[in-house]
Amino acid sequence: ARIRHYKWELKYEYKSPDCYKKLVITINGRTPGPTILAQQNDTVIVEVKNSLLTANTAIHWHGIRQIGTPWFDGTEGFTQCPILPGDTFVYKFVVDRPGTYLYHAHYGMQREDGLFGSIRVALPDGESEPFAYNYDRSIILTDWYHKSTYEQAAGLSSVPFQWVGEPQSLLIQGKGRFDCSAANPPMKADVCNNTNPECSLYSTTVVPGKTYRLRISSLTALSALSFQIEGHNMTVVEADGHYVEPFVVKNLFIYSGETYSVLLYTDQDPARNYWVTTNIVSRNATATTPPGLAVLNYYPNHPRRSPPTIPPSGPMWNDVDSRFNQSVTIRARKGHVYSPPATSDRVIVLLNTQNQPNPHLLKATISQIMTSKLYKNNTNATTSDAIYRLQLNSTVDIVLQNANTMNPNNSETHPWHLHGHDFWVLGYGKGKFDPINDPKKYNLVDPIMKNTVPVHPFGWTAFRFKADNPGVWAFHCHIESHFFMGMGVAFEEGIERVGKLPSSIMGCGETKHLLKP
Ligand code: C2O
Ligand code: CU
Repeated sequence: ARIRHYKWELKYEYKSPDCYKKLVITINGRTPGPTILAQQNDTVIVEVKNSLLTANTAIHWHGIRQIGTPWFDGTEGFTQCPILPGDTFVYKFVVDRPGTYLYHAHYGMQREDGLFGSIRVALPDGESEPFAYNYDRSIILTDWYHKSTYEQAAGLSSVPFQWVGEPQSLLIQGKGRFDCSAANPPMKADVCNNTNPECSLYSTTVVPGKTYRLRISSLTALSALSFQIEGHNMTVVEADGHYVEPFVVKNLFIYSGETYSVLLYTDQDPARNYWVTTNIVSRNATATTPPGLAVLNYYPNHPRRSPPTIPPSGPMWNDVDSRFNQSVTIRARKGHVYSPPATSDRVIVLLNTQNQPNPHLLKATISQIMTSKLYKNNTNATTSDAIYRLQLNSTVDIVLQNANTMNPNNSETHPWHLHGHDFWVLGYGKGKFDPINDPKKYNLVDPIMKNTVPVHPFGWTAFRFKADNPGVWAFHCHIESHFFMGMGVAFEEGIERVGKLPSSIMGCGETKHLLKP
């Protein structure tokens, strides 16, 4: 195993990812940031210099379990003090499993400002994946707002409450297109300019007759997405760092915090280019957010040559069944099945809803529930600041029960992400979870392991994990505004085993010298 050493400087810079100029956070001048490339069991060291001038930061390594290094999980307020402007913080951790992971800011709503990137962990030399491919690419999908995250965060905590609304555009690997001429009131060319080369669409070049592994991941602030490549099917082979039994899709549904690898065969007419599209699903954004576009460039066509066709339209935004079906289709790959413990020591049922602690403030909430109280009345939901103390090495079942929002006829999709662990996805259901009969239908044979899982509108999702990683771990909805509004808890396990904490995580700025551990 080797050491992979990175030196990053974070800055606010003006960029025009979708042709609209705004302040974004760059890593060494770029957003998305550099892809971390490593092999299983390598040690990754990232020296982060915060040159944001007036903003704190912290970086989370999404999907990396941080075994033995819980203090480098990068979750501000949970595992470390923020990195203050001018300070440098050194993350050091082992990537113990191959697969596709992410990193992103975990401070306030800062992720949305562009501070994110991919982590790709390869197998050690001499070992090979259970599928073959010629080339490997990473593509991150995001949604993009023109308002600053400060303005959005202030709105969410204001009285009266101001919702962030739908994003202005969707970005594919950091690039998108907002139609400047359609803006009302009109925007000046120094603010929004569709001829700016910075916002030319993302184009990825392929040669005909090959197999491409595309590592598709989503770090949207709000949106659930469908991803599609015109004229091509995709074979899904990996999810959140685990091999899945291959299945073919035309649309890949993907939620914030998820990663997938798909195999793409470049077997179509090589005389032209093809559209790559992403659309919002689960929320009705048809009138507000145009689809995200990129180009699949068949060599030797010009990479910027527009495909001769109209981009394919995505699935209906409210087609919950298709999304539900994709979720239940995913199984662990034969020969790569890790069986879950047959029973659990504890079941925690969490209700996903919203409430209004006062007439003007809105909170996205979860609360532990008695299953009989479901739906009737959500007023027992409180903003959660719950810490659950889990018995070290115990087996825990989580059931996420979805309900309505403040609107009784509306229910949202929430992608839940667990830090520090992978979990077995035992099942999904529609309607109210039945604690007697539904567990009998759990998949204990070949469940997929993941670190992020959606709970579908008015449905439930159940998963199991072993609380075997000493530390304090966030568990939250990966929608940036929902987490900001309170949709998250902490799991604490075996902290007496954590050992000596590094002094770098203790205290902030000048106080850190006073807090010698
Ligand atoms: Cu990718 Cu706590 O998040
Ligand atoms: Cu949510």
